[in-house]
Amino acid sequence: MRGLFVTGTDTGVGKTGLSAALLAAIAATGDPVRAYKPVLTGLDEIPAPRGAASWPPDHELLASAAGMRAEEVAPLRYGPAASPHLAAGLASERIDPAALLACARATAADTTLIVEGVGGLLVPLVDDYTICDLAAALELPVIIAARPGLGTINHTLLTLRAARAAQLDVRAVVLTPWPQQPDAIERSNRETIERLGEIEVATLGLLASPAVTELAQAGAELPWRRWLAPA
Ligand SMILES: Nc1ncnc2c1ncn2[C@@H]1O[C@H](COP(=O)(O)OP(=O)(O)OP(=O)(O)O)[C@@H](O)[C@H]1O
Ligand SMILES: [Mg+2]
Repeated sequence: MRGLFVTGTDTGVGKTGLSAALLAAIAATGDPVRAYKPVLTGLDEIPAPRGAASWPPDHELLASAAGMRAEEVAPLRYGPAASPHLAAGLASERIDPAALLACARATAADTTLIVEGVGGLLVPLVDDYTICDLAAALELPVIIAARPGLGTINHTLLTLRAARAAQLDVRAVVLTPWPQQPDAIERSNRETIERLGEIEVATLGLLASPAVTELAQAGAELPWRRWLAPA
């Protein structure tokens, strides 16, 4: 399967914006792309207004960037803003990892698949199966979304360590939203993660709106062709 698995150091770090930017940039070159969000939680939450533009929920943003229907992107959707295993439990359901894998493969077909993870790598889908296990089973190269500021060195190096312990092929860390004029801490964080993590660190600027043209422009700045290349 060709594609990327976008994980993050935490929930709310910018995985969706990054995934949507990658999808829109790849789609803009004419290559067929598909998006997959294995489990979506928090549909009951009213999204906080972000700047002037209102941002859609993850599956809608990913769908608009990939030219899909939102339900196709995330077949498993829950209302409470909870960890997947809890959200499923509250609905008297149990997540079936094998079904998620089959769905990812069917969604990809012969296209490039961008998978947005849920929370971070050690988030459980069921007690003995994490997002990290899902990424390993899909055998996709991994991109880690991380915050640019204070605290990110620890979160990012922990995520890298967990990913490598599971033999994931981590291609890059993306610091997001990267300011136009990064301060000394942000510049140092970038350099320190690159050096101590022995990993490429890229940046994604602030997305002012969820417009596909803007996403595509931002995504075009990222070296996604190299990230997609076989190891
Ligand atoms: N490049 C960016 N442009 C604009 N906002 C950003 C960017 N990167 C991060 N953010 C901020 O991060 C917040 C969460 O972004 P996003 O929804 O993409 O996170 P996530 O990791 O996908 O979260 P979840 O775990 O809920 O899926 C946004 O509300 C926004 O404030
Ligand atoms: Mg998201």
